[in-house]
Amino acid sequence: MNAIDKISTTARYERTIETSKRVRWDVERDVIRGRRFDTTHKFLPDGLSLVDAFTTLSSSEKRFVSQIQGRTYANMFGLVERFINAKVLELSHDHWLGDQVALEALVRFSDEELKHQALFRRIDAMIDDVLPGGYRFDIDPNGVAGAVLGKSTWAVLGLTLHIELFTQLHYRQSIDPDPELSELFKDVFLYHWREESQHAILDELEWVRVDAGLTAEQRDKAVDELIDLVAAVDGILQTQTKADATYFAAVCGRAVGGGEVPMIETAFLKAYRWQYIHSGLQQPQFRKVLFNLITDEQGQRIQAALATLQ
Ligand SMILES: [Fe+2]
Ligand SMILES: [Fe+2]
Repeated sequence: MNAIDKISTTARYERTIETSKRVRWDVERDVIRGRRFDTTHKFLPDGLSLVDAFTTLSSSEKRFVSQIQGRTYANMFGLVERFINAKVLELSHDHWLGDQVALEALVRFSDEELKHQALFRRIDAMIDDVLPGGYRFDIDPNGVAGAVLGKSTWAVLGLTLHIELFTQLHYRQSIDPDPELSELFKDVFLYHWREESQHAILDELEWVRVDAGLTAEQRDKAVDELIDLVAAVDGILQTQTKADATYFAAVCGRAVGGGEVPMIETAFLKAYRWQYIHSGLQQPQFRKVLFNLITDEQGQRIQAALATLQ
């Protein structure tokens, strides 16, 4: 790294600290503000819940689907932030006795992810107060974190940057513009997005830093591990699809015919793959960073793997 690159990298770490201090919020005082969820509103916008794919449902049933998916959306963030935070703490080790600006930026990142996990637990409990009982999200965050952290740091950072960029994309493109959305749900993701913007910058800085220390062979193996991680995410989505479709059929208030259940499951899976896999991989910033680090052949390998998840 030359002197100019070094300065601009430090300046980028520094800027995330300044912004993190400026936008910092408190779960109860700023986000919840004594409010409750109102089930006359949607939680997730149509652009994410893809409710039009649920062709057999009435409009109130589609609203209920948006609420189930919204709850799962909060739980999925709570899940991934467990491994993201552990990886950030591990990466901070590289800066302990080095760049103290980078160290402070990562410490703030970690602190924010702990707060976000608490926020998402709170949201899950608040939604539980207003929706019918029986919802399940049985995926163990520590089990997932153990499996993810078994992969190389390069692969974990690739997945993490993808997630932290799609949080912003979802908020700006779908959540913010939807006038029918729950104001409380909107605020949760507005405040979350404000802190995630810094995380995505740090992911990129750390990913490029870690990448510079790899051999071509190590990077090639890491590309396969990133593909494995995306497949693991898909496994989680398939599990939660079953849980959410079963919950919907059990509590929607009418008999759901045997032939309708697979259609509802297909629609849930389509929405979840869009939310957690495909929307983020189309994000221009993610593609720019990823394709700068890998060869054309590695890019094609990733695209071929993604094509199987339609
Ligand atoms: Fe977060
Ligand atoms: Fe984050």
